[in-house]
Amino acid sequence: MNKHASLDKIQSWAKRKGFVFPCSEIYGGLANSWDYGPYGVLLKNNIRDSWWKRFVKSREDIVGLDSSIILNPKVWEASGHVESFKEALIDCKNCKNRTAAEKLIEESTGEIMDGKSVEILNDIIQKSKIKCPVCGSFDWTPARLFSNLFETSIGIVKDSESRAYLRGETAQGIFVNFKPVVDSMRVRVPFGIAQVGKAFRNEITKGQFTFRTLEFEQMEIEYFIHPSSDWQKIFDEWMEELKNWYISIGLSEANLRKREHGDEERSFYSKKTVDLEYEFDFGWKELYGQAYRTDYDLSKHSEFSGKDLSYRDPKSGEKYIPHVVEPSIGLSRAMLCVMYDAYTEEDLGDGKTRTVIRFAPNIAPIKAAVLPLQKDEKLRTKSREIYEELKKSLSVEYDDSGNIGKSYRRQDEIGTPYCITVDYDSLEDGTVTLRDRDSMEQERVQVSELLKYIQDKLDNN
Ligand code: GAP
Repeated sequence: MNKHASLDKIQSWAKRKGFVFPCSEIYGGLANSWDYGPYGVLLKNNIRDSWWKRFVKSREDIVGLDSSIILNPKVWEASGHVESFKEALIDCKNCKNRTAAEKLIEESTGEIMDGKSVEILNDIIQKSKIKCPVCGSFDWTPARLFSNLFETSIGIVKDSESRAYLRGETAQGIFVNFKPVVDSMRVRVPFGIAQVGKAFRNEITKGQFTFRTLEFEQMEIEYFIHPSSDWQKIFDEWMEELKNWYISIGLSEANLRKREHGDEERSFYSKKTVDLEYEFDFGWKELYGQAYRTDYDLSKHSEFSGKDLSYRDPKSGEKYIPHVVEPSIGLSRAMLCVMYDAYTEEDLGDGKTRTVIRFAPNIAPIKAAVLPLQKDEKLRTKSREIYEELKKSLSVEYDDSGNIGKSYRRQDEIGTPYCITVDYDSLEDGTVTLRDRDSMEQERVQVSELLKYIQDKLDNN
């Protein structure tokens, strides 16, 4: 458990420091919607790139894809989302508070309600006399089902003919491209298709900061396997891979645990689902989910499209519909956990504290800051020279405010692992001071060796 951060603290720090802003705030914001500021977008892209490098670029058995957000609406009928991707909502008649029935019960009783029928949810609310958390009254409408799929329409006439959906998961874009990928690439089962991109869900209840939002990015892999292969083993290996990746971007293992879904909770397409959960200050919550989707999706798309989506093994000639293991990651949620884990308030003694964001150096938005010790033209010129050179290879900042203590603190608060200070000795002997964010230790390094020195430290991370 990270003892340092509360959600409120993370949220106000993220806004103050240019990571995450409330969406369209000048108009009062928009529920469950957030924008990524200058440092936030760097951090998010670094997490995305780390995932892509590890699971696509460095593996021979996984290829990438970028499918459309708006797919043929039949995709969502075939996948079962139109029918089953629904949530039970309930309204307080007194204060008009609208909330998800599952969440209302879970927060009141602590019991997980995922997958319970509307009848059961209504029953529990009535029997337990659960009150409205906003106004305290017990005056609910019956819970009813609403679709989580975001509807839109194509063209100017809005009718059932023009109805389309913003994708509710990136996965379906992968399934409908299974055949063209197999036909165009030299892939052989087992292999995976990976995709990063926006997904949209009509989330009604207020989410906790960026934990649950209307639009968010997913990083999904559909890993296609032979139907009779040892899927349990493959499933476990993927869980381990993903857990290790989360640790590599800075999450501490102590804040992670696995939890398997029960029969009622599991999605309609899955035979086994395990969540990797993270311990927030508001409890253990899903960080990412992994499902054994069997041949559910490819079979449904074969059935609905009338196209044969089976795979023929080029060596044995065997023809079959592959099964799928799916590690499905929320990028924005991964970033929230990274911010949680990194946020630290350090007691420096004598009543002094330091806020330091201990991002893993490989994903830190800024890798180093170049700081002239004083407001002196010679120091500035030398500092800019160093900055311009490093900028070619690294994400770096230049800050000549001249107050070195304040500059260090500012960089600590955005998680910059290294600060480079240029002083009068630098002009004489070509060395600079390199300060480490975490230990605050300083060492002299030759300017000519600076880039390699920092890159080595980043690589070792
Ligand atoms: N293709 C499978 C799938 O979409 P999911 O468990 O519904 O499974 C996968 O979503 C991941 O996407 C979650 O573990 C979470 O990280 C992220 N996610 C889902 N809904 C989200 C939302 N409303 N806001 C932010 N992230 C979300």
